Amino acid sequence: MTKIKNIVVLTGAGISAESGIRTFRDTGGLWEDRSIEEVATPQGYAADPELVLGFYNARRAQLSTVEPNTAHTALAKLEAGLAKEGGNLTIVTQNVDDLHERAGTQNVIHMHGELLSQWCRACNQKFISADAFTTKSSCPKCDVIGKVRPDIVWFGEMPYYMDTIEVAVTNCDLFVSIGTSGAVYPAAGYVQMARGLGKQTLEINLEPSEGSAFFHDTRLGKAGDLVPIWVDEILSA
Ligand code: OAD
Repeated sequence: MTKIKNIVVLTGAGISAESGIRTFRDTGGLWEDRSIEEVATPQGYAADPELVLGFYNARRAQLSTVEPNTAHTALAKLEAGLAKEGGNLTIVTQNVDDLHERAGTQNVIHMHGELLSQWCRACNQKFISADAFTTKSSCPKCDVIGKVRPDIVWFGEMPYYMDTIEVAVTNCDLFVSIGTSGAVYPAAGYVQMARGLGKQTLEINLEPSEGSAFFHDTRLGKAGDLVPIWVDEILSA
């Protein structure tokens, strides 16, 4: 077997579940009290910006109460281990938390945006802030009031870094999906792209995802248990 040097890992809410951040589609998921239309669409924001800003303020405030888990730290170890051998790990995450970065991973692509990034619709500039925002908040870049929204990709909006992700998938030896239901495209389609390009593919998830049949291999269980084992296998191969 040829040595695996370049890996793309796609992560979803399941990798942060053991850190205490609720997933979207499991029982007790984030949308339990709020519909997707209310809090994750441009229309929902236009209809009730205060509600939507408050929803993301709560998610942002939660970041300071949670820590990366063993799955996040194992991926940081994988990144360092591959780099030592001239390889590369690209983490493409659908998550808007910062747990990959806090685990020490450098190369993280947030395709659905980030809780800590804010976007001013008046001046179109983005800025990092852990603060809470209301419709009375002003933009620190242009001082306009009431135009700062979360830098989160809502349904109906284009995910970020699609070109960069396609290049990473094209150049990888192995594509791995961790903790995602495979319900939301385009992320859910990357396994098919990888398969079409002849890449090896692996899924690590609590249960088979919607796209499970597309993977060569599926390992079922908690990411916090399975990811460290898989990382050790790769680094010792
Ligand atoms: P989901 O909530 O749809 O799926 C989470 C997946 O993680 C499920 O398949 C669970 O079985 C699995 N899971 C739960 N706990 C786990 C654990 N400890 N270890 C391993 N797997 C576990 O979340 P995503 O697939 O990330 O989009 O959702 C994709 C997108 O839908 C999100 O990025 C968000 C949402 O709407 C936007 O906000 C644009």
